Amino acid sequence: MFVQQDPNLIQLNSAGQLKHFLTTEGLSREMLTEILDTADSFVDMNAQQVKKVPLLRGKTLVNLFFEASTRTASTFELAAKRLSADVLNLNIKTSSTSKGETLKDTLMTMEAMHSDMFVVRHSESGAAHYIASNVTPHVAVINAGDGRHAHPTQAMLDMLTIRQHKGAFEPLSVAIVGDILHSRVARSQIHALRTLGVSDIRVIAPTTLLPRHIEALGVTVFTDMKQGLKDVDVVMMLRLQKERMQSALLPSESEFYNLYGLTEEKLKLTHPDSIVMHPGPINRGVEIETSVADGPKSMILKQVTNGIAVRMAVMSMAMGGQMTEHQARRESE
Ligand code: CP
Repeated sequence: MFVQQDPNLIQLNSAGQLKHFLTTEGLSREMLTEILDTADSFVDMNAQQVKKVPLLRGKTLVNLFFEASTRTASTFELAAKRLSADVLNLNIKTSSTSKGETLKDTLMTMEAMHSDMFVVRHSESGAAHYIASNVTPHVAVINAGDGRHAHPTQAMLDMLTIRQHKGAFEPLSVAIVGDILHSRVARSQIHALRTLGVSDIRVIAPTTLLPRHIEALGVTVFTDMKQGLKDVDVVMMLRLQKERMQSALLPSESEFYNLYGLTEEKLKLTHPDSIVMHPGPINRGVEIETSVADGPKSMILKQVTNGIAVRMAVMSMAMGGQMTEHQARRESE
């Protein structure tokens, strides 16, 4: 685990604008709303015949995925291309990381190519923060998921999806279900939901998959899924993170599905207009019944689509924040 500091000391510039995007924790409601409003403008653009604007023309983005990804890596690449940036996807498996090169040396090598933005996924919590603390000042860093810590663009695409379907956040009841213990997505969602004013945030999980003191984040804990789902407006399912489980935390996948899988039957307990979300990748028959995943309440593919708009918003805002900072530095010299 890398050392953590107050993230806003580093992710905001001196004018309070985004210059890195590392976590939803600590960001103001105004900032989260600005991300959603900016993303909204890109949602329409992404549905046009010509899906390109020149906002990042001349800028170079490097995708650094030290962990596997389908959705996040692809949508960051598409988002950058739709902003007219040049994109380099470093293949970590065939890169010099496999010869023992350190993260710092890889970054310095990429910086020497005059990169402007790093999008980073890493298995270590705090990796994106560490990178943002060590890059040269004009380079923006976007966290694409670090260990169990944060996945802020996932949380913001989830917030955009909720806002599109539910409007105001305040009156909502939202349940987050499954492997809360290992989930960076859940942490980023909880911070965003709280900041945006959601009145009732529930987490539903077996005690073995709940972090200690999770209530301190302002959530109500349920270990009985049927109680926890009662009348909720939004169900956010999570993937079982088997790759992060160091010991047997579950009796079996079928037992987990019986108690915590989202089935048609359990879905009937939610509000009649409820929506179902999942960050993906989904494990059908483990976290969610196929007919629910593919059913009319499912927002799973809409979330993927919204990922492009949210990532366009965050990248353009961070680049703008870096340019303002750079300008202010030059004027004070
Ligand atoms: N939701 C998410 O992060 O999916 P990927 O691992 O496919 O990027």
